[in-house]
Amino acid sequence: MLGARRVNRLQSLADELTAGGCRALAITTDVTHYNQVKRLVDSAVQTYGRIDVMVNNAGLMPSSPLEHLKIDDWDRMIDVNIKDVLYGIAAALPYMKQQRAGHIINVSSVAGHKVRAGGAVYAATKHAVRALSEGLRQEVKAYNIRTTVISPGAVATELPNSVTEPDVAERIHKFYDEIAIPAESFARAVAFAMSQPEDVDVNEILFRPTRQEL
Ligand SMILES: NC(=O)c1ccc[n+]([C@@H]2O[C@H](COP(=O)([O-])OP(=O)(O)OC[C@H]3O[C@@H](n4cnc5c(N)ncnc54)[C@H](OP(=O)(O)O)[C@@H]3O)[C@@H](O)[C@H]2O)c1
Repeated sequence: MLGARRVNRLQSLADELTAGGCRALAITTDVTHYNQVKRLVDSAVQTYGRIDVMVNNAGLMPSSPLEHLKIDDWDRMIDVNIKDVLYGIAAALPYMKQQRAGHIINVSSVAGHKVRAGGAVYAATKHAVRALSEGLRQEVKAYNIRTTVISPGAVATELPNSVTEPDVAERIHKFYDEIAIPAESFARAVAFAMSQPEDVDVNEILFRPTRQEL
């Protein structure tokens, strides 16, 4: 079950997966609205009868120095990067508690471990994701639910396009062009966490391009 705002992109991915022999459905979802995240999860349960894994992945990184006061960017990062995780937990947890099984995977970042000047708000949202994931881990043990937080370094995606400051954007595009690793590296980390036996809970994965120093 795939959720994001650009349904055309999602639908072509669902078609590709279906052509490869999988079942896949795309549902337009804006993660800043709890009712839309709930609809996504409810649809998954209605379609498949249960929910095994919830991946809370949506995020954006319009980094800039705090003194530039890019309040709209701060609001968007807080709304998407943090609330996506909270709303995803809220939508999936009741089903997983009932099933006494499930797995919630949240996406943080190297920026959830390290703060850099010019990236304080993004780092704050990604530290929040790690804090939420650790609290969740402790609270859902009793229900046999697994939790994983994945913190990638530079992965070649559209993320640098979310930077709104021209000079920062130029620097980040250059950095990504030089060292970012393919998105499959992230997919493999997700697959690794998901594919463990039920009694193994991989709580945290931090990975970077081999060449990434920070
Ligand atoms: N790429 C990296 O180097 C890197 C490193 C560390 C962490 N991360 C984290 O990895 C996650 C995925 O980012 P990415 O690298 O794949 O960036 P991306 O290529 O820009 O993808 C972002 C995804 O989030 C979705 N999204 C954004 N706002 C949304 C909203 N309001 N509602 C629903 N979906 C929304 C986008 O789909 P729509 O626009 O269609 O909604 C898109 O699928 C993020 O949490 C990011 O912080 C990435």
